[in-house]
Amino acid sequence: MDLSGLVALVTGGGQGIGAAIASALMAGGARVAVFDVAAPLASSPDGALLALDVDVTDEAAVSAGLDAVVARFGEPGLLVNNAAVTASDPDWRGRPVLELPLAQWRRVLDVNLTGAFICAQQTARRMAAAGRGGLIVNIGSVQGVRPTRGSADYATSKAGLVMLTHCLAGELAPHGIRVNAVAPGPIAPAGAESGPSGTLTGTWGTPEDVAAAVVYLAGPGGRFVNGHVLMLDDGASVLLRDPPARSDSFGVTGDTIDS
Ligand SMILES: NC(=O)c1ccc[n+]([C@@H]2O[C@H](COP(=O)([O-])OP(=O)(O)OC[C@H]3O[C@@H](n4cnc5c(N)ncnc54)[C@H](O)[C@@H]3O)[C@@H](O)[C@H]2O)c1
Repeated sequence: MDLSGLVALVTGGGQGIGAAIASALMAGGARVAVFDVAAPLASSPDGALLALDVDVTDEAAVSAGLDAVVARFGEPGLLVNNAAVTASDPDWRGRPVLELPLAQWRRVLDVNLTGAFICAQQTARRMAAAGRGGLIVNIGSVQGVRPTRGSADYATSKAGLVMLTHCLAGELAPHGIRVNAVAPGPIAPAGAESGPSGTLTGTWGTPEDVAAAVVYLAGPGGRFVNGHVLMLDDGASVLLRDPPARSDSFGVTGDTIDS
C-alpha cells in the first residue's frame, strides 16, 4: 500500500497495537507521529517517526503536540485514536460494578473516550482549516458491543467510542473527513496467546491484524467506508450462546432465546 505523502498521528503508539499500526503506516511510506505517556519509542533517525510524550487527556498538551507534528511533518491526514487504559495498565483492575472505585471509572472514561474526543476535535479542526479532508480511526473493542463481567468502565468507554464515531462522521463529512472505528477482539502478539480466545474459530488476532485494517481504511480501498465500525474479532461479537436449560409450560426444554 503506497501511503507516501501521508502524515499520521497514532495515540498510544508506544507499544502493542499502536506500535504495530505506526510500523505498518511507515512501511507504506507514511510519516508518523506518536503520542504516548510511556513513550518507549525513540524518534527514528531517518525522520519518519516522531515520538512525543503527550497525555491525550491534556488538551493543552495535545495542542502543543499537534503544533510539533505540523512543524515537523505538516498537517496530519490521519489520526488513529488508540491510546487507552487497558488490562496491561498496572493500575487497572477488572472489578465488579459493586466494587468499582469511582476514580478508576473516571480515569478509564477520561483516557479512552474523552482523550479520543480531544484528539479528534483538535486534529479535525486543523484538517478542516487545511481543506484537504482526512481520516480518523478510533480503536474500539468487541467489549463495546458485547461486554464481559468486571469491565463496566472499559466496555462503556468503548461503546461510547462507537457513538462518537457515528457523530464525528456525520458532522465532519462536509469537511471531507471520514471517521471509522476498528473494534478488535482478543489480540496478542503471535506466540503470546493465553487461554481460549472466545472467538468463532478459536483463534487470536495479532497487532498486525489491527494495523492491516487501519492501512486498508487509509488506502484507496477504504475510500467509500465512512461512519463504520469494523468488527475485527473473528466473530466474537456474534458468538452463539447456549439457550437456558429450563422447561417452559409446553414442556419444551432449552429452545428459548436467552435475552
Ligand atoms: N489487546 C487487546 O486484546 C485489545 C482488544 C480490543 C481492543 N484493544 C484496544 O486496542 C488499543 C491498544 O491496545 P493495546 O493492547 O496495544 O494496549 P496497551 O495497554 O499495550 O497500549 C496502550 C498504550 O496507550 C498509552 N496510553 C495510556 N494512557 C495514555 C494517555 N493518557 N495518553 C497517551 N497515551 C496513553 C500507554 O502508555 C500504552 O503505550 C486500545 O484502545 C485497546 O482498548 C485491545
